[in-house]
Amino acid sequence: MLMTSDERPTHAVAGPEAGTLARRFPGNFAWGVATSAYQVEGAAHEDGRGDSIWDEFCRRPGAIRDGSSGEHACDHYHRVAEDIDLLASLGVNAYRFSLAWPRVQPLGAGAWNEKGFAFYDRLIDGLLEQGVAPFLTLHHWDLPQALQESGGWVNRATVGRFADYAAEIARRFGDRAASIATHNEPWVVAILGHQAGIFAPGLKSQSSAMQVAHHLLLSHGVALQALRAQHCVSPLGIVLNQAPTYAATDSPDDLARARLDDGLTIRWYMDALLRGCYPQDVLAFLGEDAPRIAPGDMEVIRQPLDFLGINYYTRNLSGTGAPLDPISSGRELTDMGWEVYPRGLTELLLRLQADYRLPPLYITENGAAYRDRLVGGRVADADRIRYLRSHIAAMADALESGVDVRGYFVWSLLDNFEWADGYTRRFGLVYVDYATQRRTLKDSALWYREFCRRARTARGDGSSATMGRGHGR
Ligand code: FCB
Repeated sequence: MLMTSDERPTHAVAGPEAGTLARRFPGNFAWGVATSAYQVEGAAHEDGRGDSIWDEFCRRPGAIRDGSSGEHACDHYHRVAEDIDLLASLGVNAYRFSLAWPRVQPLGAGAWNEKGFAFYDRLIDGLLEQGVAPFLTLHHWDLPQALQESGGWVNRATVGRFADYAAEIARRFGDRAASIATHNEPWVVAILGHQAGIFAPGLKSQSSAMQVAHHLLLSHGVALQALRAQHCVSPLGIVLNQAPTYAATDSPDDLARARLDDGLTIRWYMDALLRGCYPQDVLAFLGEDAPRIAPGDMEVIRQPLDFLGINYYTRNLSGTGAPLDPISSGRELTDMGWEVYPRGLTELLLRLQADYRLPPLYITENGAAYRDRLVGGRVADADRIRYLRSHIAAMADALESGVDVRGYFVWSLLDNFEWADGYTRRFGLVYVDYATQRRTLKDSALWYREFCRRARTARGDGSSATMGRGHGR
């Protein structure tokens, strides 16, 4: 049910600068779009899928802004063939998506669900037939509810369950995946889910949150060991959200607060993964809320990474004063209230390069929500085009300064279930009318399609993105 608005001439939305920008990237660069299982699949109770913590969280009155859930979402589970055609029509060479653990192992332990695996078989094979490289994520927040009932990520036993799940995915898909990431954004699961309580499972405890942060990292390390023990040939890594922190003013208090926030959001994860330790200043700040760490844990966390995924949307401003009023500050904001700050992406990448011995990087998510309106079959989202163009240019700046970035994924292919914001925020390149499930390419989709076409022309072929192995090993 794809609207044919994509017949419109692309020069309506993509000027010659699309070609100039595309030529700043190497020929084998991955140009993709991203989604996650709970946000698009729907079919939450079909073919044996078990409940996830998000199914449960959505039932809590007041948890989701519009009272909705991912029960139907974009109905991608039933429309997978159409959505693969949609991806192919965009001309992307890579697609990042997640597997729903409760779809393939309903209770998070024990029996596997063949119908769940059959769905991902169809998706992966369909992508490969179209020359689109499948970039898998094992856990994009939808932990099986049965595991939550025995403590979820607070319980160290969940680490072992995750490794079993990872090994099974390696057996099933390890030969076909262009990459496998263990977790998406552990900070969000730990902090928004267990400290702020605004995401599933909705707990409010700093000590639990930091124990979860540790267990997620530990489970990443154990899963990488399990995947490699299965001789998985896909490159392996993890995806982190990284909003760089800037001090609101030059006052010593603001600078100190910004340093701590940087530690809590970026250094906690990067130091653990790449140096095998947690930052001392953050441990000191946490005091009794610091996690319990068993001997040997940090070595397990620091497994060689074939790649690191970075999700970049905006920057943080930290200080001890009252938070800046975003409206009166005059900063350009998206519909999430997130500042549009492309320079932050260049600065982040250069800073990571200076501070760590990095594996190859992928920008695994970047995009923006705007108040899109479908009028006469068209969504004129010029601000999203500007957002994407400026961030791709910011990534090119980092690449030209020597940062090894290998790919970029727009969040998102489709408008979808935006967690606690329900369906009130639209991030898609493709507009979804949820009542009919009709998909309509927004102007930004036409722009990205033209950009990908220029990138293909620049490299002189139509090959899908592939990843090398053995970096920094
Ligand atoms: C990221 C999530 C993704 C989506 C975007 C807007 O933090 O990984 O699922 O919600 O934000």
